[in-house]
Amino acid sequence: MQSETADTRGRHLRDLRISVTDRCNFRCTYCMPKEVYGRDFQFLERSQLLSFDEINRLVNIFKDHGVEKIRITGGEPLVRRQLERLIEMLAQDPSLDLTLTTNASLLKQKAQLLKDAGLKRVTVSLDSLDDTVFRAMNDVDFPVAKVLAGIEEADRVGLNPVKVNMVVKRGVNDSAAVEMARYFKGTGHIVRFIEFMDVGHTNGWQMEHVVPSRELVEQINQSFPIEPVEPNYTGEVAERWRYVDGSGEIGFISSVTQAFCRDCTRARLSAEGSVYTCLFATRGTDLRMLLRTGGTDEQISDVIGNLWRARTDNYSEVRTAETAKQRKVEMSYIGG
Ligand code: GTP
Ligand code: 5AD
Ligand code: SF4
Ligand code: SF4
Repeated sequence: MQSETADTRGRHLRDLRISVTDRCNFRCTYCMPKEVYGRDFQFLERSQLLSFDEINRLVNIFKDHGVEKIRITGGEPLVRRQLERLIEMLAQDPSLDLTLTTNASLLKQKAQLLKDAGLKRVTVSLDSLDDTVFRAMNDVDFPVAKVLAGIEEADRVGLNPVKVNMVVKRGVNDSAAVEMARYFKGTGHIVRFIEFMDVGHTNGWQMEHVVPSRELVEQINQSFPIEPVEPNYTGEVAERWRYVDGSGEIGFISSVTQAFCRDCTRARLSAEGSVYTCLFATRGTDLRMLLRTGGTDEQISDVIGNLWRARTDNYSEVRTAETAKQRKVEMSYIGG
């Protein structure tokens, strides 16, 4: 049964972003600062995490509401043991667009397994090509060469096009954007420049840290002329551009300066089974309790349908310095 579930702004539910763990082996300073995510930090216990069977069951229910695209996230999804088993379950439905966002630290070892399990593509987070800057940004001294090796392996096994996400923060890595474009130009990988966002409440966000995409478009255009490309579909997060010389595509994700809430079709499922209807939500709706106390598919489906139909979220359209201070859910918990 396929029903169309629309929210109060007429937006349909199309994408589900699933966090499979709140843990990560990096401590990116803007996402999991060590002062907060130190030795004493209480991550979720294994028993609190949804099992792969539970996730698979929920996905099937979400599909009845129109979900056709699944993105696996974390924390770092590849630190969840045997993730390929979940991929295999979800890949039983070949019509699902099934992808994953990773920091690529474990991608070289995992790429073939993931491909064989039925994953279609990967997106890799990479904020700098400069080894010193990268090691400082991930704050666990992780070398950039290993991430690049992961990207190459993903490409080699056919998890492509590989998308590369660079979060741009003023004064930290903004001067390296053109270099990032240059490095991947002509490789078939698609770099996307992301405006630094006020996700969560521990990342110390200020408007001054944001580099508007317009600025980067101009910078890159001066070195390598680019022109805009039509979106693949309405509501696409990244604005697409291509090199005039035909050597590939890049994208800009401008949630701060050009909000894209109007077409936002995304729901997010946390590792412990709560649904969030916005990346900037302050609270989620628990589904795990129903899953574990004998709730039927219909009951769970009703909760999801009612939640989506009541949805009003448009955070990025109404963001202010004040809203930025709200106790929002953390990026590492909800997966971006
Ligand atoms: P594809 O382009 O289809 O591969 O997917 P995507 O762009 O949705 O995936 P990705 O996970 O790479 O998203 C890129 C980044 O955009 C995320 O990590 C977030 O930082 C940001 N983003 C994605 N969805 C939203 C959203 O709904 N709202 C906001 N504000 N930012 C989002
Ligand atoms: N603003 C923008 N993007 C962010 N990411 C993590 N924190 C932020 C932030 N504050 C990115 C990661 C990854 C994706 C999941 O979200 O780099 O690419
Ligand atoms: Fe960095 Fe991603 Fe890990 Fe956050 S979840 S610390 S952005 S690698
Ligand atoms: Fe969707 Fe919320 Fe992002 Fe707007 S801010 S695009 S409603 S997730």
